[in-house]
This record gives sequence, structure tokens and C-alpha cells, in this order.
Amino acid sequence: MARRVILDCDTGTDDAIAIMLAATRPELDLMAVTAVWGNHAVEHTADNSRRTLDLIGRSEVPVYAGRSAPVAPPPGAPAAIGSTEPDTLPIPPATAPLEDRDAVGWLIETARAATQRFTLVPTGSLSNVAAAVAEDPAFLDAVEEIVIMGGVTERGGLLPDIETNVGYDPEAAQVVLDAGFERLVLVPLDATYRTIVTSEQCATLRKAGGAAAGVAADFIEQRIERYRTLPAMEGRAAAPVHDALTVAYLVDPTLVTLRPATIRVHTGDSPTRGRTDIAFDPAGAVHVATDPDAERFFGLLLESLTGL
Ligand code: BDR
Ligand code: CA
Repeated sequence: MARRVILDCDTGTDDAIAIMLAATRPELDLMAVTAVWGNHAVEHTADNSRRTLDLIGRSEVPVYAGRSAPVAPPPGAPAAIGSTEPDTLPIPPATAPLEDRDAVGWLIETARAATQRFTLVPTGSLSNVAAAVAEDPAFLDAVEEIVIMGGVTERGGLLPDIETNVGYDPEAAQVVLDAGFERLVLVPLDATYRTIVTSEQCATLRKAGGAAAGVAADFIEQRIERYRTLPAMEGRAAAPVHDALTVAYLVDPTLVTLRPATIRVHTGDSPTRGRTDIAFDPAGAVHVATDPDAERFFGLLLESLTGL
């Protein structure tokens, strides 16, 4: 039976590819997309989610818009910097309307009514999920597994010190990490920067054919343009597609190795606000994705998006 999944996204280009994967894989039953603020305002991330679903012929999947700001920022907390991506994805406008319900209310109601548990995949700021947990602690009981794109383990290397999904709302991230979800998987930057997609692979994707493959190739090429000057890319014409790795893990858990860890988020007005201290520890409750298989990750993208 297909696994029931809700994506909670701040949809820009990599969230869009995660949505495409989740909406097309037979192993997954995409119940809804809940939009959250993050790289862009929630109006844009909700609209981009709708556009993406339309593009791949899944306009019947409902999209709910949620939180548009951090849950409990300390006074004087710096505002999020925002993304260098355009706020609206360059694909046709959606035909189906946004749902009326607020995403957090819908998540809580869905959890209360659930006769089967679902998997929750946050790939944006954790504001919606933290709000749902705060409003109804029993929300956790309906979640079989939560798979979060967020955080970074490496310090002092080439990766950013702060990962944006955690950095935009660190208090929310800490609430979610501490909430007591039965199984929490974290896919950090360390893993996503090891599953980079190259411009040659974009050409392969485009050649494979179909609107979804073509748009995904366009999006990844745009990402490559933005990433190629970052130290972590070391001059390679390639870019991570962070959020897609969460869904790829759900389709094929053997793509990564999970290692137990404990995590502390730097919160409040600390100058290191948004950092994640990830300590690998056999007794840790968080499962951190490590050692991803980049070739098989791209193979899954190609196989899933070709011909749609
Ligand atoms: C995360 O931040 C956003 O830019 C991406 O969509 C991804 O979810 C990576 O740090
Ligand atoms: Ca995202």
C-alpha cells in the first residue's frame, strides 16, 4: 500500500522537485502540500506549490497556506535574508485554487481524524509544524515518521554554518526536534551537498523527455548558476537539490545511512542563532541521513520524472 505523505514546503526550485517526486512515485500517496514561509512569503510558496502540481497533472492534490513568520522570535532577532531565487517559479499559473483552510488547522484536524498514520516531510521553515505541535500535542500520534530537510553537521569546512530551514525559525526547529515524534529523520546539508546534480546530468534529464523532466532540468540549471561560485562547489558546474533527497529517502531508504544523534539548535539572540550542534550518539533520538548514494539519487530522479 502506498505510504501517505504530507509535504510542508517553502516552494522554490528544490521543493518543487521534491513535490514532483512525491506526486509521481507509486510508493507514495501525496495527501496534500502545506505551504510555509521561508525563502519567500507564504503567498508565493503556496502559489508555487500549486503551479508545480498543475504542471505534472496532479492539480487535485490540495494546497493549504500556513504560517508567514517565525513562531516565537526573540526581540531583535535578525530578519531572514531570503532567497536569490525569483519568488514565482517560471512555470504556468495554476488553474486550481488554493484551499480556504489554514495549513496548521488542517494539519491538526487531519491528524485528529486519521485512521491511518501519515509521514510528514518539512522542507521549509519549521513554523507550521511547531505551531501544530504547540496547538495540539496529540498531533504527534498521527505521524508515523517525520523527515526534515534541515541543519548542518560540518563546522569550519566549505558548507554554510547555518542551514536556512533551521536558521529562519530556530525556535520552531527546536520545538519540533524536542517534540517526541516517534521517528524523526534529519536530512542535513552534509547529505544534500553530497548528492549534487551536474549540468551533464541536467542534459540527460532533458533528453529523457517530458514536461516534468524538462522543467526539473531547467530548475537545476538555474540552481547551478547560483551555486557555482560557492566555496562548497569547488568550481564544479553542479548544485544540490536539497529537498528532493527527503522524498528520495522515503522511496528508497537505502540511498542513505541513518546514524543516531542528539541535536541542539542555537536559539534566542545568540550570534550563532540557527546553528545546529549535531552529536552522533548511539542513544540519540534523531536519525541523521549520512553517506548518500549520489548516482542512485540521480537515477531515481531520472526514472521518476521521465515522460511525464
Ligand atoms: C533549504 O533551504 C531552502 O533554500 C531550500 O529549499 C532547502 O529547503 C536548504 O538549506
Ligand atoms: Ca525548501
